[in-house]
Amino acid sequence: MNDEFEILESDVLIIGAGGAGMRAAISVNDAGLKPIMVSKSLLGKAHTVMAEGGIAAALGDVDSKDNWTVHFGDIIEEGVYISDWKMAELLAKEAPERVLELERYGALFDRTPDGRIMQRAFGAHTYRRLAHIGDRTGLELIKTLEDQILHRNIQFLDEIYIVDLIKNNNKIVGAYGIKMNDGKRYIFRTKAIVIATGGSGRVFKVTSNSWESTGDGLGIAYRAGVKLKDMEMVQFHPTGMVYPPSVKGVLVTEGVRGEGGILLNSKDERFMLKYSPEKKELDARDVVARAIYKEIMDGRGTEHGGVYLDISFKGPDFIKNKLPAMYQQFLEFADIDITKKKMEVAPTVHYMMGGIEVEAESGKSNIENIFAAGEVTSGLHGANRLGGNSLADILVFGKRAGDSAAQYALSSKLEKIDQNEVESITKHINDLFKEDGKNPYALMDRLMTCMSENVGIVRDGEHLKKAIEIINELKKEFPDVGTKGGMKYNHGLLGCLELENMLISCEATATSALMREESRGAHTRSDFPKKDKNWRKSIVVYRGEKNEIVYETEKTKEMPEEFKAYVKPEVYK
Ligand code: FUM
Repeated sequence: MNDEFEILESDVLIIGAGGAGMRAAISVNDAGLKPIMVSKSLLGKAHTVMAEGGIAAALGDVDSKDNWTVHFGDIIEEGVYISDWKMAELLAKEAPERVLELERYGALFDRTPDGRIMQRAFGAHTYRRLAHIGDRTGLELIKTLEDQILHRNIQFLDEIYIVDLIKNNNKIVGAYGIKMNDGKRYIFRTKAIVIATGGSGRVFKVTSNSWESTGDGLGIAYRAGVKLKDMEMVQFHPTGMVYPPSVKGVLVTEGVRGEGGILLNSKDERFMLKYSPEKKELDARDVVARAIYKEIMDGRGTEHGGVYLDISFKGPDFIKNKLPAMYQQFLEFADIDITKKKMEVAPTVHYMMGGIEVEAESGKSNIENIFAAGEVTSGLHGANRLGGNSLADILVFGKRAGDSAAQYALSSKLEKIDQNEVESITKHINDLFKEDGKNPYALMDRLMTCMSENVGIVRDGEHLKKAIEIINELKKEFPDVGTKGGMKYNHGLLGCLELENMLISCEATATSALMREESRGAHTRSDFPKKDKNWRKSIVVYRGEKNEIVYETEKTKEMPEEFKAYVKPEVYK
C-alpha cells in the first residue's frame, strides 16, 4: 500500500450517517469502544428527515388502550404476514423506551394539554400512536442524534464513498473509500461493520428520496456475500407533490391525513369512501396509493396528473401549528397557500421494505461481522410498512446493531488488510477512467425510466420481463461507462460507482417481483390479483459462487401460539 492511502482503525465501522447509523454509533461509544462513521453525504443528510409525521410507539399517552401487543398486531397485518415476527415484537416493545431516550437526549415532542407526549393518527395504526414534532419529526430526531455524536466526539468522515468491503481469507477486515472532493483514498481497518446506508428509492424516477438513496449499501453487501430479502417490496407513499415538475415526488406527509385531510378527485368526490369506507384516507399506504392510482388512470385526476388533498377547512391557525413544514413547502415550491387551497398529490416511491437479511435480535447478517440497521435491512416490515415505523425501526434496531457489533468487536482483533484485494478494487476504479466512456447518468436515466414504467404500483409479468431485459442490456453496457479527468470532484466517477450498485438493486427487485405470482401488500400484480397463502414466504437473493445472482425462497417463520391472539385470523388465509 502506498501513501496515496490513509489507514484508519476502528472497533466498528459504521457506513451511513442517518438515524440508524448514528444510533448504532452511540451504542458502540456507550460500550467504551471506538466507532468511526463514514458517509458519502453529510452527517444527518439522510432519508430519515423524510419521516415527517412521527415515530410510532405504543406509549398510550393519547389513547390509553394502546400497548405493544396492538402495535405488534398492526405490524404483522400491514406486512401481510411475511414480517419477521421477532423483529415486530422487539419494535413494538422497545419503541416507547427509544422515544423516551430521544427525549432525554433533548428532543422536544409536541405535548397534550396535560403535558404528555402528543400522538397523532396515521394510516392502519389502530390507535393514535405517532409521537411527533409538528411535521418535522425526522429532522428533530436527526438533530438530536447529531448532538450526541458531536458531544461524544465520535469520529465522523463525510463525503466518502465506500466502494467495497475488503476481505482477507474470506473474512471482512475493512472497507475501501474515496473522499469525493479531493479524491483521497482511505482504508478503514475494522473488526465489525454496521451498514446503515438506507434504501434505493432513487432507482425510480418519481421518489421522495434524495440523491443519496442509490442502494450503495445493498451493492457492497451483495458483493461481499450478504443475503438480501424481499427486494420486490417497494413502498409507494400515497402523497407526493406533482407540480411544479422540479419538485415532483417530494413528500407530502401522511400527517396531513392524520390531522383530518381528505382526498378528492377532479369531480370533487371523496373517493376513499368508495375504496375504504371504514378507514378512508387512513387505510394502509398500499390501499390509498392504489386508490389514487386508479382514480388517475380512470380519468378523474387533476390537471397535473394527481388528485387533491385538502385540509384548508381546518383553518390557518391549526394548519400552521400542526403542519408548519407543509405550509411552507407548498408556499415556497408551488406558490400554494394550503390554508386556502387544495394540494395536488400522487404516489411517490418512498421506502424499500426489502434489503439485507438480518437476525432480529442482533442485526447480524449471514456474515459474522457484518451487521445492518434501518431501511437497508429487511424483515420487520414484510410486504408493507406502517408510517412512523421507520423512525422507530432506526432507533430500536440501530441500537441493537450497534450493541451487537460492539460485543463482536470486544472479542475480536483487527486483521491484516490483504494487499491484493486493495489492488483489485483500485484497478476497478482505475478502469472507470476512459477517454470515450459512456455517460453513467445517461444509463441511470434509462434505468430509472425502466423501473418507473415497468415495476410500478401495479405490475404484470409482461412489464416485469421487459424491465429485466432492459436491466440486462444496461448491465452489458456497464463496462463501457466511464469518466474523464482526475479523482477530485469527479461526479462522473460517483455516477459510475452508484450505477453499478443501482443495477444490483433493480435486478433483484424486478426479478423477485416477477417470481412472486400473487398480490401482497405493496406488491400488486394485475395478472395475479389475489394473495396466495403458498406465498407466505420471502425471496432471498445472493451472489453465487460463479458470480451469478441466486434466488431462493424462504418460508416465513411461524410466531409462537400466544402471539397469534394479537393478530387477526386472516393470517391463515
Ligand atoms: O408521511 C410521513 O410523514 C412519512 C412517514 C414515514 O414514512 O414513516
